[in-house]
Amino acid sequence: LTVGVVGAGFSGGQPRGGVELGPTRLIEFGLISQLQDLGWTVDFDEKFPNYEHLKPKEADIGKLKNAKYVSAVTQSVSKSVREICEKGAMALTLGGDHSLAMGTISGSASVYKDVGVIWVDAHADINTPDTTPSGNLHGCPVSFLMGLGTPVPEFSWLTPCLPANRIVFIGLRDIDPGEKAILKQHSIKAYSMYDVDRHGIGKIMEMALEYLGEDTPIHLSFDVDALDPTVAPSTGTPVRGGLTFREGHFICERVHETGRLVAVDLMEVNPTLGDQASLVQTVQIGCSLVRSALGETLL
Ligand code: ARG
Ligand code: MN
Ligand code: MN
Ligand code: MN
Repeated sequence: LTVGVVGAGFSGGQPRGGVELGPTRLIEFGLISQLQDLGWTVDFDEKFPNYEHLKPKEADIGKLKNAKYVSAVTQSVSKSVREICEKGAMALTLGGDHSLAMGTISGSASVYKDVGVIWVDAHADINTPDTTPSGNLHGCPVSFLMGLGTPVPEFSWLTPCLPANRIVFIGLRDIDPGEKAILKQHSIKAYSMYDVDRHGIGKIMEMALEYLGEDTPIHLSFDVDALDPTVAPSTGTPVRGGLTFREGHFICERVHETGRLVAVDLMEVNPTLGDQASLVQTVQIGCSLVRSALGETLL
């Protein structure tokens, strides 16, 4: 069993510095050896890709902030993830902000045509260039993957690869008005925190997996802000009322149990936000979520 690790220290999809240090800290806290202890052969280049050379002079495209930079970096990440998947290995991407999912999911989807995405997040990240209130591209990856909204020529490399019925959201609680309309219009399967409270996380996972289908390869895209801010405080856009420690880990454990996981993203860990205790807590949870997704069990 081999896992290929992409350390994607990139923060251009949102305005707060520090999230580019996510992968470095996760590795410093021992993630690689923890995965080896679980029996994985870890394919990881000690030298993180440095994306600085991809940074263009003029960055924005209309109201989309850093659009050219985000396009160049996600295209590079897409290639890395595709190459890992082509070898039949598991692709693990450590963010970095969630705009990176344009790269990770286009990469896995290019190899696994029918891939199903489980998107765990406080946010739906499905704003289009037309609806985004912030211009921050970490709020837009899902719409770009689906090909919604006015096409952006700089992203022409990213051909739509995610049909509306191949994604399930879990943990939603901060959705912009334009996003709400898109979720409705395309009948996208979305479980908010209301649904988690109502059914319990066990039932939600059964419904999500049944929806995606029995033999679907699964890409888990986990934004750490899905967790409650008391559980994972060091993240750029925290929203109260989130998943508990166990609910977050259960999602990862249950997805692992299917045996169909092909790619995992762990996004939005920003080790520079909050005090030292917050940093340690959030980075440790990042490590343990990944371990759960890669097979760590309680017994
Ligand atoms: N919906 C807001 C926006 O589009 C917030 C997005 C937060 N996304 C994230 N990956 N943390 O700007
Ligand atoms: Mn989020
Ligand atoms: Mn909001
Ligand atoms: Mn997100």
